[in-house]
Amino acid sequence: MIVVREIGALRENVHERRSVDRQKVAFVPTMGNLHAGHLALVRTARELAPITIVSIYVNPLQFGANEDLDSYPRTLQEDLTELEALDTDIVFVPDDATMYPRGLADQTKVEVPILSSILCGEHRPGHFVGVATIVNRLFNLVQPDVALFGKKDYQQLTIIRRMASDLGMPLEVVGVDTIREPDGLAMSSRNRYLTAKQRAIAPGLYGTLRETKDDLEIRHTDATTAEADGCQKLKDRGFSPDYFSVRTRDALTHPGTGDRSLVVLAAARLGKARLIDNIKVDLD
Ligand code: PAJ
Repeated sequence: MIVVREIGALRENVHERRSVDRQKVAFVPTMGNLHAGHLALVRTARELAPITIVSIYVNPLQFGANEDLDSYPRTLQEDLTELEALDTDIVFVPDDATMYPRGLADQTKVEVPILSSILCGEHRPGHFVGVATIVNRLFNLVQPDVALFGKKDYQQLTIIRRMASDLGMPLEVVGVDTIREPDGLAMSSRNRYLTAKQRAIAPGLYGTLRETKDDLEIRHTDATTAEADGCQKLKDRGFSPDYFSVRTRDALTHPGTGDRSLVVLAAARLGKARLIDNIKVDLD
């Protein structure tokens, strides 16, 4: 496994590896503090292409002024050990000067309209411009054939797919299923912000989503009622919900009567942590 910090070294190593039989590159962008969710992406990457590249970079552009950029967990040595064990080929670990040589304000930005301003975008203004901008830059540096993203961040995955399509990027975006703790809580670097009491409440987010899925699929509850019920349940269970919303699976629009492939997305605060999760719903 090669660890590179500079763009020049990244390009040389990717070029060198790729030139052997024009091998395909699979890429997994991360912010580090790797857990089983990230590692599932890396494992899938290894199955999809002979060369696996992982980036670790806590991207300041996607954090709001009052968010957890400074306290975001940084565990590089442990992360590298995990990646080595999975036979990762190249790990790209840039610093801010490498990723934003002209600073954040002067950086060319990528905005996926509408999708970036709804749901999490409404509660985290600028967040998805930060995500799309860094992922676009990383794609240009790595030039992957396949890029992998977790379905846990369903809106992020949808935005990246749209960006790749709108900008004609020559790569495939692959979504990987959410990895969960045994009690259903989606794995996240931010789960460490939970106290023991909050940790006991936290699985209720996925529990509520599962109940809503049943309401929609089995009891044929309408979307508006399901949203109101889900939101109330979250409050009763001790969460402060940002949103609880039934959407179409591809465009994340409010469903009409003909829309059968849906997703329920939720974001809720629990103490210092903001948890997000989602569940697929098929009405047929
Ligand atoms: P990060 O939160 O580190 O997540 C990196 C990737 O791991 C994302 O694609 C995310 O969806 C996936 N992931 C996280 N938890 C998961 C879980 N429990 N199961 C499956 N996949 C999971 O998302 C980001 O970083 C950043 O926004 C990034 C895309 C790297 C841009 O900075």
